[in-house]
Amino acid sequence: MACITNCKIVAHQEVAPDHRRIVLDAPDIAADARPGQFCMIEVREGSSPFLRRPMSIERIFDDGISILYKAMGEGTRMMASIPTGAYINVQGPLGNIFPIESDTVRSILVAGGIGIAPLIGLAEAIIARGARAPEVILAARTECLLLCEKELSQMGCAVTLATDDGSAGFKGFAADALRLLDPDSKTLVYTCGPNVMMRAVYDVCAAADTRCYASLEAVMACGDGVCMGCVVETNAENEFAKMARVCREGPVFDARVIRWNAFD
Ligand SMILES: Cc1cc2nc3c(=O)[nH]c(=O)nc-3n(C[C@H](O)[C@H](O)[C@H](O)COP(=O)(O)OP(=O)(O)OC[C@H]3O[C@@H](n4cnc5c(N)ncnc54)[C@H](O)[C@@H]3O)c2cc1C
Ligand code: FES
Repeated sequence: MACITNCKIVAHQEVAPDHRRIVLDAPDIAADARPGQFCMIEVREGSSPFLRRPMSIERIFDDGISILYKAMGEGTRMMASIPTGAYINVQGPLGNIFPIESDTVRSILVAGGIGIAPLIGLAEAIIARGARAPEVILAARTECLLLCEKELSQMGCAVTLATDDGSAGFKGFAADALRLLDPDSKTLVYTCGPNVMMRAVYDVCAAADTRCYASLEAVMACGDGVCMGCVVETNAENEFAKMARVCREGPVFDARVIRWNAFD
């Protein structure tokens, strides 16, 4: 059940150029949150910017949550300037969750840049279930934008790095790195990042008969299923299921359901 609450910022630090982590004292949100869900953040009180900004829940603690974000536009730059100790208004948790199957033999998390945000809590949850630590592909344009390698390695995840410019790890794209890990029908892949990356990841999975869950992004207004501003096209035959709301039916989708070429 989502709540709207003022949360104290207990830590707020830069983790990479233009990327920050904010830790919020938010026991009510943490109590209900599950990996895959997100929050709508009011970056400033009042009407400018008018809309809250959707942000994945990175980690869930007993008394709060963390959010990992990229300061890219008006709202996130404002957020970056809020000091530790201040309060921000947060609505959450919202959206659906990553399915975790206890009999999964192997899981691979594929993140593009800031797309690692929702996958950190997922990795923790998979390990907490007693399953084998997931393998993780961290992909980014260049080395300094590879996020959370240390945290994931400390959790016991085998991390493969991939950069477009070859400045760290494998030189190439996330989907190419995934192909090299040779997923099969017993593997479960979870992915989050730019649509073009997730589509390529899905293509590798489809060819290998590997199930794949993708966490999608959309520009959101209400974040809670009302405005229909965040719909994506699906492959459903049924007229009513043809459009799915990222904020309500998602953000996590079985990648087979998404009509990926609608993003072209
Ligand atoms: C469910 C969900 C979870 C998200 N989780 C995270 C997260 O954990 N960390 C993070 O950094 N970002 C996350 N995002 C994206 C984040 O919401 C946008 O980057 C943010 O709203 C941009 O706000 P802004 O005011 O800085 O940018 P604006 O000034 O509004 O826009 C700057 C640029 O960003 C683009 N943009 C705006 N909103 C989005 C969006 N929702 N998705 C993609 N591009 C957008 C605009 O088209 C424009 O080019 C998430 C989005 C969704 C829908
Ligand atoms: S953002 Fe309003 S329905 Fe999804």
